[in-house]
Amino acid sequence: MTQDVQREQWGSKIGFILAAAGSAVGLGNIWRFPYVTGQNGGAAFVLIYLAIVFIIGFSVMLAEMAIGRKAQLNAVGSFSKLAGGLWPLVGWMGVAAGFIILSFYAVIGGWTIKYFIHSFTGLMADAAAGKAGDVFGGFVTNTMQVILYQAGFMLVTIWVVYKGIGEGIEKYCKILMPALFLILLILIGRSVTLEGAGKGLEFYLKPDFSKITGASISAALGQAFFSLSLGMGCMITYGSYVDRKTALPGAAIQVCFIDTMVAILAGLVIFPAVFAFGVDAGAGPGLTFVTLPSVFAKMPGAMIWSGLFFLLLFIAALTSAISLLEVVSAYFIDKGWSRPQAAIIMGLLIFVLGIPSAMSLAGAPKVAGKDFLDAMDFISSNVLLPLGGVFISLFVGWFWTSDAEKEVTNEGTLTFGLMSMWIWVCRVIAPAAILYIFYTGLKW
Ligand code: PHE
Repeated sequence: MTQDVQREQWGSKIGFILAAAGSAVGLGNIWRFPYVTGQNGGAAFVLIYLAIVFIIGFSVMLAEMAIGRKAQLNAVGSFSKLAGGLWPLVGWMGVAAGFIILSFYAVIGGWTIKYFIHSFTGLMADAAAGKAGDVFGGFVTNTMQVILYQAGFMLVTIWVVYKGIGEGIEKYCKILMPALFLILLILIGRSVTLEGAGKGLEFYLKPDFSKITGASISAALGQAFFSLSLGMGCMITYGSYVDRKTALPGAAIQVCFIDTMVAILAGLVIFPAVFAFGVDAGAGPGLTFVTLPSVFAKMPGAMIWSGLFFLLLFIAALTSAISLLEVVSAYFIDKGWSRPQAAIIMGLLIFVLGIPSAMSLAGAPKVAGKDFLDAMDFISSNVLLPLGGVFISLFVGWFWTSDAEKEVTNEGTLTFGLMSMWIWVCRVIAPAAILYIFYTGLKW
């Protein structure tokens, strides 16, 4: 009975692209990108962001996909098989990052479920009475409730990963991603036709090159990395389920394109609406869970708009959460566990690690002065992902170069016009740029 079990595969190229795009499109696109852009020079920032995504982001994504497809294994196993030595540590960092990111991501995923439901059960009335802030404050300090919604979000995530690659992740992403685009377009239609929307567009997109500084470039790079799900083996894992015929460079470009488009479009929902009603934009969770409900409450059909928006956020969070759990589960599945075993056990452990994050919104526990949730976010986004990105780039650029070239050209049967650019970006440009943001982003 030592026969090799056939590795699961995506059923189609579009299935793979939508799953990878589902991983990339997440909370980072919808609540973070628009705000960071508005603060950092609007269209000028978008230009820099685009350059970073399509030069550095694309290169690291392609590197990850090539490693995964060649090895046909999880992030740790891929490095053991292709290189050995200390390289599997890079995969380990990725598995750890997946574990940590999902632990707090699921807490916020839980909020989106709560807010979706509550859109129809009183949120709009409270928000219309100016109490959106109280509603949010009341909810996040009700630890029992936050944990319950977090558990609900984890259950859905576990369910999809449990079902597997084709019957789970691919199937749901093929339904959820088109639904996400549709909701996004409906919401943009509503937002930009509001009276006074123009001021919001101006705040969001008016180019202001004087705001482009070292700090904003580093913000763009950090945002690009998190948003594209890079540096933690996610694209290695998803790449390991790709067939040998798929052209990886084209797939990587399409994922970068979809992710960036959704990020830019999300700003077209948020800022025109916020400015049309003259509320202060605020940032992060405040913008999403306090400002926006009060904006929706002022629209006719408030419940529908609020419900649609939080459904959008839920879908975006779910398809990213699935990929995080898959990175962790794939390691154990390749070790011989069954998929249900891996998904359920790892999902439960991640849920448990998330409990302090869920509680930290009520003020405790703290890690070296930071809220637990913020600390987890910092360790993963500012330390593990950038370091992972540096080593993945260096691996392809210096150590595994000719095999990488073979892999992205499907053994020389395809031409890849940007080959030498790709290799040099992996060799020098990406590691140098990432180390720079790593350094600037390291202030606790
Ligand atoms: N890309 C996701 C987002 O933008 C987050 C994520 C990071 C998902 C790393 C998987 C891996 O929200």
